[in-house]
Amino acid sequence: MCLHNGAQSMWRNDLYFQEAIVGLNTLIDPERLYILYQYVRHTVDVSGDLAECGVYRGGSALLLARTLVKYGRGDKKLHLFDTFAGMPPANPLLDLHQEGDFGDTSLAEVQKYLAEHGSSLLFYPGLFQVTFAKVPETKFSFVHVDCDLYESVRLCCAFFYDRLTPGGVFIFDDYGFPSCPGARLAVDEFFRTRPEHPVYLPTGQAVVSKLPEEFVFLQTGT
Ligand SMILES: C[S@@+](CC[C@H](N)C(=O)[O-])C[C@H]1O[C@@H](n2cnc3c(N)ncnc32)[C@H](O)[C@@H]1O
Repeated sequence: MCLHNGAQSMWRNDLYFQEAIVGLNTLIDPERLYILYQYVRHTVDVSGDLAECGVYRGGSALLLARTLVKYGRGDKKLHLFDTFAGMPPANPLLDLHQEGDFGDTSLAEVQKYLAEHGSSLLFYPGLFQVTFAKVPETKFSFVHVDCDLYESVRLCCAFFYDRLTPGGVFIFDDYGFPSCPGARLAVDEFFRTRPEHPVYLPTGQAVVSKLPEEFVFLQTGT
């Protein structure tokens, strides 16, 4: 008898979660959405805003916004970064996606889709290379990285790591997907020299929880 069979499908019996995913226009399957939902809840009282890098049609962003409201933190801001016009150029040596993938969306459509949560949302249309600079002082409790490409994931790590509050989390959507080898490489390279070790989930996602500085013991080899 396998005792953990039931545990694997817990999300099917979570009625609020089932309600929260109704009508989501997303590429992300329910198992991965349930991880997002739980980590929004987990970090709801960590200080800082939320960010999503890779919004496409707004589906996972809608789940993040609904979950904040459900847990009484509709006051938290959710920063949404995307070209809203498709993928930027990829690196053919590291990525399998092509420039222009996910181009069947627009800023206006996503704003309309998310209108119910408009007061807590901030939109940054354009390349991360340009738009991250618009939030230089903001601190974050939760960063969802769903942008598939080596350079895009590398930029997310480099920008948000120092702005993540201890106890806050990164969720890397594409870490374990054969279609996104560059995303995994970018995460592995970045955390090779950091005290946090990415936790790889059976869903394909990876999670990094920022450690408080006073708990960090870096081996010096001396
Ligand atoms: C897989 S889609 C996101 C899926 C979405 N989270 C969902 O719920 O379906 C990846 C998105 O990342 C965006 N993206 C990737 N690299 C980017 C960059 N450097 N700057 C801006 N947007 C980028 C693409 O435009 C695309 O919309």
